Amino acid sequence: MQFKQGPTPELSGARRRFPPAILAFFIQVAALVLLWCMGQVVSWLEWGSLPGWALFLAQGAFASLLSMLLGMAVWWRLIHLLFPLAILFMLQWQVPAWAYLLAFCFTLALFWSTYRTQVPFYPSLPATWRQVKDLIPVDKPVSVLDIGSGLGGLVMYLARERPNATCAGIELAPLPWLLSVLLAVLKKSPAIFKYGDYQAVNLSRYDVVFAYLSPAAMPDLWRKAEKEMQAGSLLISYEFEIPGVAPKLQIQERPDAPSIFVWEF
Ligand SMILES: C[S@@+](CC[C@H](N)C(=O)[O-])C[C@H]1O[C@@H](n2cnc3c(N)ncnc32)[C@H](O)[C@@H]1O
Repeated sequence: MQFKQGPTPELSGARRRFPPAILAFFIQVAALVLLWCMGQVVSWLEWGSLPGWALFLAQGAFASLLSMLLGMAVWWRLIHLLFPLAILFMLQWQVPAWAYLLAFCFTLALFWSTYRTQVPFYPSLPATWRQVKDLIPVDKPVSVLDIGSGLGGLVMYLARERPNATCAGIELAPLPWLLSVLLAVLKKSPAIFKYGDYQAVNLSRYDVVFAYLSPAAMPDLWRKAEKEMQAGSLLISYEFEIPGVAPKLQIQERPDAPSIFVWEF
């Protein structure tokens, strides 16, 4: 099947040069410099001093404004605004240092390379699993791969419901991967979970590839799938479209629910 490829959306200069997390760091530093300059002006004019909370709020507001000017996604504006206030809150709460380390290790193991891949962990739900199951051929042996399998819920469900399918998942973040392996052992599931980057996997071995990634990951996924996937195989994406490539099928359970997109090669 031939697909029509449209243009991929252009990113602004700073967004093209840096991953969002690095850009966000620079924005907070720039906001701090702005705040310091504002402090110098205020003290030069002898206008007195601002209360501590107002400084944290101004830091967040400057950073939020900068992120808007640099064209970061909408949710970053809120993150920038709330980040300094969260620091203020934690300082006043006197959280012990080990709690920060623990929280850091937990989020690192859960989100791992999200700053690079721009694909955080969030699981799909059984309603989606059922729709994906209905797309899997029943009349022949098939191999299915979930690229970015998270806790493995979808893969274990498909392995149970489609005995003709060899179901596997690959996951880059250590904590979800480890939990998926443990859950598969506990549930005695035949699902296979590999640790690694799906970019290193040759997709030509799979009849069905499922992806629940993010808008940022879709153009790269398409380039890879187009090169490697075999005639007759299916690429299924939950929620996220491939810019400029019309799917063969779009399934939406309710008007307010995200769609499932299917491309057949
Ligand atoms: C939105 S979650 C989806 C989880 C799972 N597929 C589901 O439906 O519940 C996306 C997952 O993809 C993983 N991921 C992101 N980029 C990846 C990559 N290049 N290789 C393997 N996994 C990746 C993330 O760590 C995250 O757990």
